[in-house]
Amino acid sequence: MAEQAASTESSSSSNTSDRPARPGTAFPAGSGGGPGPGPEDLASSASAPGGTAPAKIDEIIARQEEIFVARQSESRRMAGRANRALAGGVTSSWQITKPQPVWLSHGKGSKIYDVDGNEYVDLHGGYGAALAGHGHPAIVEAVRSQAGLGTHFAQPTPAAILVAEELTRRFGLPLWRFANSGTEATMDAVHLMRAVTGRDLIIKVEGCYHGHHDSVQVSVCPEPDDVGPAHKPAQVASSTGIPRAIIDLTLVAGFNDLEGVARLLDENPGQVAGMIIEPIMMNAGIIKPEPGYLAGLKDLLHSCGALLTFDEVKTGLTAGPGGATRVTGVTPDIICLAKAIGGGVSVAAIGGTEEAMGHVSSGGYEMVGTFNGNPLAMAACRAMLCEVATPAAYERIEALRLQAVAGLQREIDRNGLRAQVVSVGAKGCVVFSAEPVRDFRGFLGIDDSYSHAHWLYQHNGGVFLPPWGKIEQWLISVQHDEADIERFTGNFAGFAAALRT
Ligand SMILES: Cc1ncc(COP(=O)(O)O)c(C=O)c1O
Repeated sequence: MAEQAASTESSSSSNTSDRPARPGTAFPAGSGGGPGPGPEDLASSASAPGGTAPAKIDEIIARQEEIFVARQSESRRMAGRANRALAGGVTSSWQITKPQPVWLSHGKGSKIYDVDGNEYVDLHGGYGAALAGHGHPAIVEAVRSQAGLGTHFAQPTPAAILVAEELTRRFGLPLWRFANSGTEATMDAVHLMRAVTGRDLIIKVEGCYHGHHDSVQVSVCPEPDDVGPAHKPAQVASSTGIPRAIIDLTLVAGFNDLEGVARLLDENPGQVAGMIIEPIMMNAGIIKPEPGYLAGLKDLLHSCGALLTFDEVKTGLTAGPGGATRVTGVTPDIICLAKAIGGGVSVAAIGGTEEAMGHVSSGGYEMVGTFNGNPLAMAACRAMLCEVATPAAYERIEALRLQAVAGLQREIDRNGLRAQVVSVGAKGCVVFSAEPVRDFRGFLGIDDSYSHAHWLYQHNGGVFLPPWGKIEQWLISVQHDEADIERFTGNFAGFAAALRT
């Protein structure tokens, strides 16, 4: 997940650090405070007599934070200096990690290096964008040669056609346009659904994140007190600065809840333009759609003259070569891509059916932007699609995914932890919950202190997972190898043993 205003209405109450917290992340919670399983529930009593006491997880966090800070004196110095030049001392509010932001010097292959010279296996992947790893020769060559030929014209270049054709082959939608970020892509998708249908209302799923534009900054990660009943989730502002009038146009349903969507469509006849959804939720750990859910949504929406948009900003290319669309077998009306498609260069794509994108072709909706289809971005995108994200690369990633899952599961079993490993393609996470999670309400119940402690443990052991605890997932790049995954599962073994003892 990426950029969003730091101070959210919902986060302030739970933020125990002196920095803004990402919504719904009550870390370091330690002794809980959320409605989820208490720490004593996490380790089964059979293998961990007495379980992991609240004080114990607090102790683990405190000790790991000490180590973390001791390893990063230069980062600390930079943070101090940055505070005088950058608002909040960082370039995005979600770079404010606890106990302190980590300043990086460079990346190479599967590794990144901080300004203190520490090396990390990079499973953060820049919030899921670095599927190519770092300094991949094909990306370097594409960017270098295009840079020498001009970095910007605001006129189309041939690479854009190649990229669009390849996206059609992978995702099954015929027409494409480009933008610069996931936020722009989903903003265009929402505009387009409204433009095509002439309707104002949209439906989004509680717990899905679609970027930081107004229409989708609703119920992203609401606090337990604000969510309302599960069958009728409240429309909760997820950022300050969003007018109530706009929030009211975004209706909210639970994930995997077809009936909830049917109800919203019934209650608002002829008024819903469409629905935007992460087809596999990836801003609440990973939550998979139940069989029939996505196909059911498409049928329901179409029966009411509304459209379906898949936000594949995270899943596109990482869930598999054709994203969640290919994995689930359901092709929506509109697909949004960003993050990994540019090989680390900022770019987004919006694909659609003839009907939806025909509205763009005809001028019914003007999809515009100075940097749309920028030649540097298109060159990187072409290299990513044609030379990096190849069938052989996906095979390698699948083998590493299996290695990671087996290693983590072994330690979960050995230590009697109540936790789940969930993975799809290059992405995965450990969910510190006794039960599988099927929607945001289940996710809300998870005590985030375990994920934070795990993040610290990995970090101090030379593996950089994405910050923000239970929300995020690992990303395995095309440049990772078995030794990288071993370092990851080895650190997890240490963490699991610490929880047990
Ligand atoms: C599913 C999803 N959609 C959209 C976005 C927004 O993308 P960007 O940060 O590039 O604006 C994100 C960012 O994390 C995301 O996870």
